[in-house]
Amino acid sequence: MKIIKGNAEVRKAARDYENYSSDLQGDLDVRDYKQLPLEVDPPDHTLLRDLLNPWFSKDAVNQHSAEFRTLATSLIDSFTDEVEITRDLALKMIVQCLGVVFGRPQDVEEWFSWGPDTWITDEDGIRHGDHLDRYLKKTFEDLDENPTTDLFGVLNTAEISGRPLTRKEKYGMANLVLAGGRDTVVKLISGCLWHLANNSEHRKILKSNAELIPDFISEMVRFLSPLPMMHRVDVQETDDAAQPKYAWLSFISANQDETAIADPKEIKLDRGANPHLGFGYGRHSCIGMHLAQLEAKIVLEIWLSKFSSWEVLPESELFFDFEEYNFIPSRFHKLKLKLIS
Ligand code: HEM
Repeated sequence: MKIIKGNAEVRKAARDYENYSSDLQGDLDVRDYKQLPLEVDPPDHTLLRDLLNPWFSKDAVNQHSAEFRTLATSLIDSFTDEVEITRDLALKMIVQCLGVVFGRPQDVEEWFSWGPDTWITDEDGIRHGDHLDRYLKKTFEDLDENPTTDLFGVLNTAEISGRPLTRKEKYGMANLVLAGGRDTVVKLISGCLWHLANNSEHRKILKSNAELIPDFISEMVRFLSPLPMMHRVDVQETDDAAQPKYAWLSFISANQDETAIADPKEIKLDRGANPHLGFGYGRHSCIGMHLAQLEAKIVLEIWLSKFSSWEVLPESELFFDFEEYNFIPSRFHKLKLKLIS
């Protein structure tokens, strides 16, 4: 498996779509369409991404701040003694925020029922996507009957290059905006509260200096690298398009590269410039980065205004299985906190 590592090297490859192409389809076990605009190169990439931009720009997302604040306050106010963060705070917050941003609050309960990963993994470790297929089919059929102006309603009638989107393109866009900001943001919010549980100095500083929270969030995106690697078709190594050879862009290695980031193993509140690639780089860089950062910022502001001290309970289930970077949590299956003061 070819893995491209290092901050400068990953940046270079992420820009070079002619040699490292996104024209591929992942998750063959659970879907038969591309996630868009992720799995396509320009010019279609640009056209499809332009359809989503108005919903995800910084200004568009910031317009929802007050509503996000109300949602976070109501969740956090209900916690008294112990709380499981991944589902009862992070996932609940995220799906409700998606309901606001997409204009589809009626779907929030169903999105929550899927859990953090979009795909449902059964007891044998097999992933399933039928629930999502059923949801997408029903949603776009309903929209054909009853047009709306919410995000999926707009995608349903959108055109690129003078033609309507195909059914699979609509599924691919809707799927990605539902999937991209779930386990990643769960990891970010859980990771922030996990770190602060263990670091009383950072807790105190952030509690009395809320203006430092955005930089702390950037630093946690760097440290956690919630999306550690993504693949591309290695064009030069691929002879047969039906059997592509892949190269992996290691965002986690870029974020732990000491030639770009001083003392990368440390979580610093005063890092200043932070050239991390936690949200990727180049034309495919994360379209949801403003949304993810706003969700985490509002949760942390409200959490820190209410609590001063908390600890991680032993029944929490954290995994550290990034081989080379086994000091970074790879997954928060359960993060149970005891609230102390
Ligand atoms: C902490 C949270 C998040 C992290 C760490 C993250 C990370 C990333 C990364 C690394 C990429 C680049 C993938 C590549 O180059 O192959 C990406 C792309 C993308 N992300 Fe995120 N993401 C987060 C949250 C979100 C949210 C909240 C959404 C939307 C609801 C979202 C939607 C997308 C989409 C649509 C793309 C594809 C962009 C394109 O191909 O032009 N992400 N994300």
